[in-house]
Amino acid sequence: MSSAELLLSVRDLRISFGAVEAVRGLSFDVHEGEVLAVVGESGAGKSLTARALLGIPPREATVTGSVRLGADELVGASRSVRTALWGRRVALVPQDALSLLSPVHQVADQLAAAVRSVGRVSRKEARARSVAALEEVGIAPDKARAYPHEFSGGMRQRAVIAMAMLHRPNLVIADEPTTAQDPETQKQVLDLLASRTGAAGAALVLVTHDLATVREHADRMLVMYAGRLVEAGPVAEVFERPRAPYTAGLLASVPGPVAPGPVAHKRRLPAIAGAPPAPTDLPPGCAFQPRCPLADATRCRTEQPEPEAHDGRTVACHRWRELTDNPAELFLESV
Ligand SMILES: Nc1ncnc2c1ncn2[C@@H]1O[C@H](COP(=O)(O)OP(=O)(O)OP(=O)(O)O)[C@@H](O)[C@H]1O
Ligand SMILES: [Mg+2]
Repeated sequence: MSSAELLLSVRDLRISFGAVEAVRGLSFDVHEGEVLAVVGESGAGKSLTARALLGIPPREATVTGSVRLGADELVGASRSVRTALWGRRVALVPQDALSLLSPVHQVADQLAAAVRSVGRVSRKEARARSVAALEEVGIAPDKARAYPHEFSGGMRQRAVIAMAMLHRPNLVIADEPTTAQDPETQKQVLDLLASRTGAAGAALVLVTHDLATVREHADRMLVMYAGRLVEAGPVAEVFERPRAPYTAGLLASVPGPVAPGPVAHKRRLPAIAGAPPAPTDLPPGCAFQPRCPLADATRCRTEQPEPEAHDGRTVACHRWRELTDNPAELFLESV
């Protein structure tokens, strides 16, 4: 919701490992209460970006640029600043719930300990809040004594959602929060995540490969490729008329009513031939040009496109104005 207040502002974020740059100058905003989906093929830099938003990049990474959450700068922040933000202002729902839940403590005890880690709360009160938080995500009080391994995968994800929401953060980062689950559970967990963050007025940054989920739950989307922004804008507009060929290719790979144009009637397609480049082996010019059906022989192959903002949308492509009404066709011909 672009009329809402700015919550998080990322500017020229760069994350590198030695001489290899994996996130290469990323800028975007998140507004209060909005759901921003981050999409792009494997290796695009989505998880590294998510970690930078949480102030926990890999130890061996060099991070530059700016990640501003309200008045606080996360890039280069001291441990005490990060600890103060963690859980209270920004919280994580990870891909693997067991990375946050200890196997040797009862689930409700772990939430109670998290309650007591912030502010002075009696054991009894912490326990009561923990049980109530679990109940809010559909875990009955009689299950609160269970250990994580006694929960199903879906229940563990519910428990980490409850944990993330305990201190009413303004921002929740979910990095592929349902990849390990069956489709039915995935849907339930995502619905729950969206409804819990929505009810609390928290913004959600949702990293996902599932474009149907993006369409259903996100307000805006950020498309990444090889560590850069390719396109960003309101979900309905991007789905209706993608501007970057890469976005068009991603959307063309989605079966059924999610895809624009005639692709809806075709089988699922590996829409974009080839694979993204490794950060160690980037092509000259636009990183997508070797796979792009619209790339020209000159500018696209020599000059990296910079993000341009036009009417509430951002695109980084030299040829976006040339994209046809039905860009999915470009990719149908190419496979
Ligand atoms: N600790 C690290 N050391 C070196 N390179 C890394 C490290 N972490 C990530 N990278 C590289 O950075 C790039 C981006 O990684 P990242 O995990 O952010 O991708 P992703 O978009 O989350 O992919 P996926 O969809 O597979 O989760 C990859 O090429 C990866 O190999
Ligand atoms: Mg990832």
